[in-house]
Amino acid sequence: MDFTASSAQLLNIKADSLILPTGPQLKASADALDKSLDGAISSLIKSGDFKGKSAETLVLHIPGVNGKRIILLGTDGADSPQKMIKVIEAGASALLKTPSAKAVWVGEGLSDDAEWEASIVARSLQTASYKYDNGRKADAKKFKGLTYWTTSKANTAAANKGLSYGSAVGNGMNAARQLGNLPANICTPSYLATQAKALAKGQPKVTTTVLSEAQMKTLKMGSLLSVSAGSDQPGHLIVIKYQGAKVTAKPVVLVGKAVTFDSGGISLKPGAGMDEMKYDMCGGASVIGVINALIETQMPINVVGIIPAVENMPNGHATKPGDVVTSMSGQTIEVLNTDAEGRLILCDALTYAERFKPDSVIDIATLTGAVIGALGKVGAGLLSNDDSLAEELLNSGTRSGDRAWRLPLWDEYDDLLKSNFADIANIGGPQAGTITAACFLARFTKKYRWAHLDIAGTAWVSGGEKGATGRPVPMLMDYLRSKVG
Ligand code: BES
Ligand code: MN
Ligand code: ZN
Repeated sequence: MDFTASSAQLLNIKADSLILPTGPQLKASADALDKSLDGAISSLIKSGDFKGKSAETLVLHIPGVNGKRIILLGTDGADSPQKMIKVIEAGASALLKTPSAKAVWVGEGLSDDAEWEASIVARSLQTASYKYDNGRKADAKKFKGLTYWTTSKANTAAANKGLSYGSAVGNGMNAARQLGNLPANICTPSYLATQAKALAKGQPKVTTTVLSEAQMKTLKMGSLLSVSAGSDQPGHLIVIKYQGAKVTAKPVVLVGKAVTFDSGGISLKPGAGMDEMKYDMCGGASVIGVINALIETQMPINVVGIIPAVENMPNGHATKPGDVVTSMSGQTIEVLNTDAEGRLILCDALTYAERFKPDSVIDIATLTGAVIGALGKVGAGLLSNDDSLAEELLNSGTRSGDRAWRLPLWDEYDDLLKSNFADIANIGGPQAGTITAACFLARFTKKYRWAHLDIAGTAWVSGGEKGATGRPVPMLMDYLRSKVG
């Protein structure tokens, strides 16, 4: 998909569709268009056939506007980033429903920030064009690209930046979605390792290393290995380094949970909806999505992605409730529930993260069902040992429309993890499940600024439209981008 910005004469831009964001009050470009159409748009508004309401769309065919199809896109009431994104997504989806190959998007009438708006337009078109790739021959994509029209030369320069950034974010989300949607018999820990290696191919900034179970044993990652013990699939620790800045610049470390299937282990999950546990690797997939987008943007920053990849299964070698394991940090863990496996693989990956002397560490995990109870499928849970890091991530979430909400890490919650037989238990009882899971992780992250994103609610959509969302790639990319200015 090609994106470019232009402030040339609107109707001279070659395209077969024109997307016109407008409320009931026409802005200058809409007004000019209306005049050239003998008042067709204003009369549609007057008649009530098009009200200009937020995210409303109407496709028009009026001969004479250089043969262009016009897609009216309602903007009324879109007064926040979140609402504007909904409008743009509605426009992108209406456009892709038509047989259009090349469109022009009128960058007037919605946001005053041309760079931001253009980035969301490009991102939305990329994500709206994603279709699950089942390995068979895909249909040729008919939509080829878009010109983002702006009101001035200055806005054109800003919009061009936004378009390439947003397109990369959209592609990164799609990469994460594809991995998430793949069934667990294909997307195994070894498959993820192969994909992570492929990412580095021909990319001088990227190096991928994959640690085997034997190497993890040498590192004393007894907690991580206790999860993969019950599966015939070998576990891997995937490490992807993206070096876009000088070697001395401290990296942001992203740690993504990748349980390629979570059966619960010996603490077996109930059968209903268990298929959705193929999505339990979406944290790891989002890390791969971010690296993808960093490569596409060539962002000048250092990032290390760490992906503990395992399958949680109940074979004869499986860890049993009551077993005590020793983590890489030396802390012992009483495994009271083998279905609380995410924290068991993350804690060793978080200890491993220390060696990179990180600027900050963010882990991303489909960690608890409880976060769905708290925040539904709308926002991710955010927990952090650093207020400024938490604040930055919350702001990135708002800007990118990929929001999170912070929960506390108070001592009273940590107390719930007491064990009679080890330094810590891996569950904290029925209350405050998202917080006690994060308190567990906090015991392993004392040496650096750390934030945890619980994406169990946001990483995929359930039901008829089931599918991975690619979140929180937009939030993470915004965070990284805001660090390099
Ligand atoms: N992968 C699950 C969390 C999950 C559950 C994500 C439902 C999305 C939907 C995680 O490994 C898990 O099983 N967590 C348990 C923890 C409990 C045993 C303390 C949970 O949330 O029930
Ligand atoms: Mn589990
Ligand atoms: Zn899990």
